[in-house]
Amino acid sequence: MTISAVRLVGIGPDDPSFAQWCGVWAAAELLDRPDEAPRPAPEHVVLGRELVGPGGSRGGTHRAALLGDDVVGALRLILPLRDNTTVAFVDLVVHPAHRRRGIGGELLAEALRLAAEAGRTELIAEVDEPVTDTAGRAFALRHGWTCDLLETRRDLVLPPDEAQLAAVEAEARQASAGYELVTWRGSVPDPLLDDRALLEQRMSTDAPHGDLPVEEERWDGRRVREIEAMNAARGRTVLAAGAVRDGRLVAFTELHVSVSRPEHARQGSTLVLREHRGHRLGALVKAATLRDLAAAFPHTRRITTYNAEDNLPMVAVNRALGFEPAGHLSMWSLRVGAGSRPG
Ligand SMILES: CC(C)(COP(=O)(O)OP(=O)(O)OC[C@H]1O[C@@H](n2cnc3c(N)ncnc32)[C@H](O)[C@@H]1OP(=O)(O)O)[C@@H](O)C(=O)NCCC(=O)NCCS
Repeated sequence: MTISAVRLVGIGPDDPSFAQWCGVWAAAELLDRPDEAPRPAPEHVVLGRELVGPGGSRGGTHRAALLGDDVVGALRLILPLRDNTTVAFVDLVVHPAHRRRGIGGELLAEALRLAAEAGRTELIAEVDEPVTDTAGRAFALRHGWTCDLLETRRDLVLPPDEAQLAAVEAEARQASAGYELVTWRGSVPDPLLDDRALLEQRMSTDAPHGDLPVEEERWDGRRVREIEAMNAARGRTVLAAGAVRDGRLVAFTELHVSVSRPEHARQGSTLVLREHRGHRLGALVKAATLRDLAAAFPHTRRITTYNAEDNLPMVAVNRALGFEPAGHLSMWSLRVGAGSRPG
């Protein structure tokens, strides 16, 4: 096969061939992590509808690499609209049976073209690295991208060790006297909505981002509700816990459980407002969601989380709860504005 046999075409989440587009992701994920169910197709479909539909906080587009009628490569470009308006997030994958023939390079060139068209000067992509020397890393280096952030993936195999969890809870309860622990599933209660938005905004400034070219995000209650609706549409149940002081939500954490692969939960964001740190609130809320998970989804067998290694307090909480390293997630960027050119 030569590269000239491959065609790049626009594709939308409601096109009949979008299932194949999702299938390329699934095949690649299964190659990397054969013991895990890949992302369910509705995750891609719902995100895709948000990107191409009006009124959301992100826009974007999809391309498929076609060989004959078969989708052999997939590209999704995500364009933040409320903040970070010079940034484009690039998700790019080639089916394992069609690699090293230049298809990834073609899709990347298309991403650069689309990003430039949208006025974006910084591109960001992530690479899952269950092992060292991944194809994604070699590809990114080959194209002149720089690795700006390396996170360690950590997994907690469930059920957690009861004695370990009880010890974390006891210590956290004692240290957090004066704070009220609250939990919710799905939508944050109305009285806490604006505080929840502020906490999400703080995620974009307080969680380590390495050298990634990102700026503070802008969050309000409407945007929180938008994401909640999208999670529900994706078939995700979100189990959340928070700490309240004087009626204000000052800390939170979230676990995401997908209805079609409930055996594997994903850790969402966790944050304690700066002025409330040092009271074990991170451990308090995380332990609470572990309890809620056991009650709501007793068959969940694993939780995956990602931490920058220099995020010492978060790593310490996760270690105390029994999370173990399971590879890395690397975040890459390419500046294509003023003077810099892709490699
Ligand atoms: C990374 C990926 C998209 C590359 O797709 P591809 O079609 O094989 O890429 P190309 O054929 O255009 O490769 C271009 C160059 O990248 C480098 N490269 C790609 N895969 C490589 C590998 N497994 N080992 C070493 N170098 C590699 C080589 O320099 C290659 O040129 P060469 O084949 O002439 O030596 C594909 O492996 C993939 O889908 N991986 C999983 C998802 C992912 O990591 N996406 C990357 C986000 S940045």
